[in-house]
Amino acid sequence: MKTIKKNKMERIIDIGCGEGGYLSRISQKFPHAKLAGIEINEDVAESARTNCKDIPNINIVTADVHEYSPDHQADLIMVNNLLHYIQPEDRKQLLSRLKSWLSRKGSITIITPILHSKKGEEFSSVFNSFFSAFENLYPTPTEEDIHRLAKELKLRVKTFKPVVTEGGWYFIQLSNR
Ligand SMILES: C[S@@+](CC[C@H](N)C(=O)[O-])C[C@H]1O[C@@H](n2cnc3c(N)ncnc32)[C@H](O)[C@@H]1O
Repeated sequence: MKTIKKNKMERIIDIGCGEGGYLSRISQKFPHAKLAGIEINEDVAESARTNCKDIPNINIVTADVHEYSPDHQADLIMVNNLLHYIQPEDRKQLLSRLKSWLSRKGSITIITPILHSKKGEEFSSVFNSFFSAFENLYPTPTEEDIHRLAKELKLRVKTFKPVVTEGGWYFIQLSNR
């Protein structure tokens, strides 16, 4: 929320928006922002539409992020709890596409468990062993993976901090400048 306010972000896209929880919270504070949620699962997207039906500035699109392109550049692209759905070898290409959607002042924010994190290693290990039971889920990135991807894509790692004090689960901001 601080990032949105400080940078006067107006167009926000939530990739893998789930049932729209993040978007509806943002819309309460920023009723004039233009918010879009991209969700691959039709049933989940329908729940998001129901949950956000009284909020005119939220548009939920049923789409695979790999096939979607926005009509306008975005000031903020959120990738919350999604990276474990994306194969590690496809993450660079995905982040590169997301970067190409950003406005000059734009940022990508990522919330994800971090594998072998400095803080909260047990927490992320439990997450990752749970994901390994599913064929369509993949290991979460390490801190080094995030720094390497940012460097290769010429994005600045502006923030890298635990979401909860126990650690393991992180908020990351990658910025164009
Ligand atoms: C763990 S949920 C996270 C939901 C929400 N972002 C949150 O943090 O609460 C991940 C969501 O991403 C969606 N998803 C997975 N792969 C996707 C893709 N390729 N394109 C769009 N959405 C995707 C899933 O259907 C799921 O609803």
